[in-house]
Amino acid sequence: MNVIEVKNYEEMSRIAAQHIIKKIRAHRSYKLGLATGSTPKGVYHYLVKDHQETQTSYQQIKTFNLDEYVGISAHDSNSYHYFMREHLFNHIDIPAEHTYIPSGVSTNLEKECLHYEEKIRLHGGVDLQLLGIGQNGHIGFNEPGTSFKSRTHIVPLTESTRKANARFFPSIEEVPTHAITVGIGTILDSKEILLLASGKAKAEAISRLLNGDLDEEFPASSLLTHKHVTVIADEEALSLTK
Ligand code: F6R
Repeated sequence: MNVIEVKNYEEMSRIAAQHIIKKIRAHRSYKLGLATGSTPKGVYHYLVKDHQETQTSYQQIKTFNLDEYVGISAHDSNSYHYFMREHLFNHIDIPAEHTYIPSGVSTNLEKECLHYEEKIRLHGGVDLQLLGIGQNGHIGFNEPGTSFKSRTHIVPLTESTRKANARFFPSIEEVPTHAITVGIGTILDSKEILLLASGKAKAEAISRLLNGDLDEEFPASSLLTHKHVTVIADEEALSLTK
């Protein structure tokens, strides 16, 4: 696992964006695995800025998001579909039909999970997966105890994750109780993984990831089994590591 220490959120975002832009320019039909949340917002800002300034093209790029809330439609401003349009897709030249996000309102969620796996497989897999990390070590919405072999599935969200995400909703009661997420096995199939972490709130998780052992109670530790993982973390996120 390669660790890049950066000063702050801004530098983390810039370096991650530069890495992604380089790959996209070199491989026209690159498959990007994307995340939502506070962590990748800065990366998306820099991707948009670069697209506006240098016209890096996303016309042949395909994207696969990690997850979506169950019961929240793509038009809802709390959906991850909406988040991605707001922060990235509406500002670059990617065709909407090249952007894949699981549907949280499918009438058959089990089937939706199988179809999503199939879509990723049919496109030859994800080349680069961008990840944030939960304070409890979750990746995607794979909470502690999830099998490292898991594929796309429906998960009940833990109280701590619902609390952490409550800031986006009018009240905690309105935070969905379930989500659809790619599995840890799905994430590990990506050819390359870029995990980003910024701020003190992530320090314990990053320390456990970098010092720790493989443990299904700490989902991010599954990344220790992957050959090509880069962690870009800022000083605060690394503050408990040394
Ligand atoms: C989001 C996702 C989650 C987040 C994690 C960290 O698509 O899959 O695993 O990456 O909850 O969230 P932030 O970045 O908001 O701290």
